[in-house]
Amino acid sequence: DWNPGNVIAEQVERIRAQVGDARVICGLSGGVDSSVAAALVQRAVGDQLTCVFVDHGLLRAGEAEQVEQDFVAATGVQLKVVDARERFLTALAGVSDPETKRKIIGREFIRVFEDAAREVVEDAGAHGEAVEFLVQGTLYPDVVESGGGEGAANIKSHHNVGGLPDDLQFRLVEPLRTLFKDEVRAVGLELGVPEVIVWRQPFPGPGLGIRIVGEVTAERLETLRAADAIAREELTRAGLDREIWQCPVVLLGDVRSVGVQGDGRTYGHPVVLRPVSSEDAMTADWTRLPYDVLSTISTRITNEVPEVNRVVLDVTSKPPGTIEWE
Ligand code: XMP
Repeated sequence: DWNPGNVIAEQVERIRAQVGDARVICGLSGGVDSSVAAALVQRAVGDQLTCVFVDHGLLRAGEAEQVEQDFVAATGVQLKVVDARERFLTALAGVSDPETKRKIIGREFIRVFEDAAREVVEDAGAHGEAVEFLVQGTLYPDVVESGGGEGAANIKSHHNVGGLPDDLQFRLVEPLRTLFKDEVRAVGLELGVPEVIVWRQPFPGPGLGIRIVGEVTAERLETLRAADAIAREELTRAGLDREIWQCPVVLLGDVRSVGVQGDGRTYGHPVVLRPVSSEDAMTADWTRLPYDVLSTISTRITNEVPEVNRVVLDVTSKPPGTIEWE
């Protein structure tokens, strides 16, 4: 019968047999799959593994720290952090079109990851070692479907680490290939991966970059991060985390409306709450959140985030609306 301990023992043996003495590289996104895959490989081959985390500045409040500090402390993984926040902001300056934003983020991500991977390879070479393997958090449903990132239809250009150049060709280590998401979570918990990561809801690769309608700027990211943190905190407080599939918070950067806050008239931005219920993200229904929870979120955001003077609720199913706004 299935239990996470057996899966771990079995995979540890397989990984050791596959990898031998070679070095292994793994890109961490902050999500469940790459984290659990990395933790498994670390359990199997220890410091032969180097993880790379590209901080593109488009994650939510606390998420980079959860990777850089909590995950590392819990697993002992050797981590290389690349601070690429300025680079992404520069690349995104002046861009509002959703598909263009997605392409830029995907392109920059690959470039930064390639540079970091090359450094890891050169470093190993200097010690007479070779990096032969790349870890991927491919799950069983991905194997079956092979295509859409989170199982979504190819309506939007989803980003995941794709083709690498010839000098960075690795063989793949895919320790989650036989597992479903709930099994990956059980394995993660057994390996001591922090619960905030194990229970993380789906979050798009391009991050907050596609949750700002309009240009992505440092100020807007800060505004959205603050509003999003409040929404997440209140949903958690209300015990709704596992009931909703995810709840994007979207900043309408190109829209302003008149409000009255504190001493007088404001002309601020709205944020949209997009709570959805879903089985697989292919279709979704908008979640009927309790009015008192909505009310608390709205009051707190408009009190605590000065640039936001209006909170609106998205009551569209998928289809016709997609879950994300871009
Ligand atoms: P949509 O907006 O297409 O989203 O209804 C479906 C699911 O996919 C997530 N999503 C992404 N996941 N890379 C990902 O790994 C992406 O580029 C991406 N875009 C959207 C979205 O959050 C939802 O869960």
